Amino acid sequence: MLFGKRKREAVIDYENLPQHIGVIMDGNGRWAKKRGLPRSAGHKAGADSLKKIVTACNNMGIKYITVYAFSTENWSRPKEEVDYLMNLLLGYLRDAENTLAGENVVIRTIGSRTELSEEIQQQIIKTEEFTKNNTGIVMNIALNYGAREELTSAMRSLAEDAAAGRITPEQVTPEQISARLYTAGQPDPDLLIRTSGEIRLSNFMLWQLAYSEMYFTDRLWPDFSVKDREAAIIEYQRRNRRFGGVG
Ligand code: IPE
Ligand code: IPE
Ligand code: MG
Repeated sequence: MLFGKRKREAVIDYENLPQHIGVIMDGNGRWAKKRGLPRSAGHKAGADSLKKIVTACNNMGIKYITVYAFSTENWSRPKEEVDYLMNLLLGYLRDAENTLAGENVVIRTIGSRTELSEEIQQQIIKTEEFTKNNTGIVMNIALNYGAREELTSAMRSLAEDAAAGRITPEQVTPEQISARLYTAGQPDPDLLIRTSGEIRLSNFMLWQLAYSEMYFTDRLWPDFSVKDREAAIIEYQRRNRRFGGVG
C-alpha cells in the first residue's frame, strides 16, 4: 500500500523535552573564512543565530539553556578579535533588555567577572536585574567561563569553610560542590550540542555534563538553524538514558 510505505517523519515528543540544553557554539571563524569574510563577521552571524535559537527554545517550553560564548582560554586570541567579541557581548547584553527580555527570558552570565571590563560587569548586573523576574527560559551566557576555574573556586570556598570550622571533611558532598558552582540550583544539562565538527568539551561544564547526552554536528554555528535544533532534540529523545542502571 502506498500509504503504508511512506516513512513517517520523526517529530518532537513534547512530554520528553530536555529541561536544560548546553551549547558549545563553535565554527564562527570557519563560517566567515568560507565566505572570504573577517572572523568578526562570523561572530556577528553567530550572535544572530543565538537569538533565534533562544527564542525557539523558549517558545518550545525548554527551561534552561547555557551557551558557551567566551572561554577562559579565548583570551589567547589576537587582541583585535578579543576586543570585537567583548564589544559584541556587551551589545548583546544591552540589546537583550529590549528583545529577549520582552520575550520573558531570564538572562544570567556564568564565569569569572573580575577579568571583564568595568563596563561589561556593570551591564551584566543591569541585564540580570532587568530580567530576573521573568518566567520564561533561563539563559546562562558563559562568559569568561572555564570549568576548571569554576571547580577550583568551588574547592577553594570549601577549603575556606573547612579552615574556619564551618564544614567538616565528611560534609563535603557532591551536593555541596554543585551548590558552589555558577549553575547552583539549576538542573544539569540533559543535552549538550556542539557545532562545527569538533568532538571535545574545551573546558565546558565538566561537572555538570557527567550524564548529559552529547550531540555533535558538523554544522557551523552561524548556520545552525531551528530545524537543526529540532533534529538534535529528536536524536536526544531516541537515546536510552540509563544512568548506570539497566534501563
Ligand atoms: C566560536 O567560534 C566562538 C568563540 C569561540 C568565541 P570560533 O571563533 O571558535 O570559530 P572557529 O572554531 O575558529 O571556526
Ligand atoms: C570553545 O570553542 C569556546 C566557545 C565556543 C566559546 P573554541 O573554538 O575556543 O575551542 P577549541 O579551541 O576548538 O577547543
Ligand atoms: Mg572554535
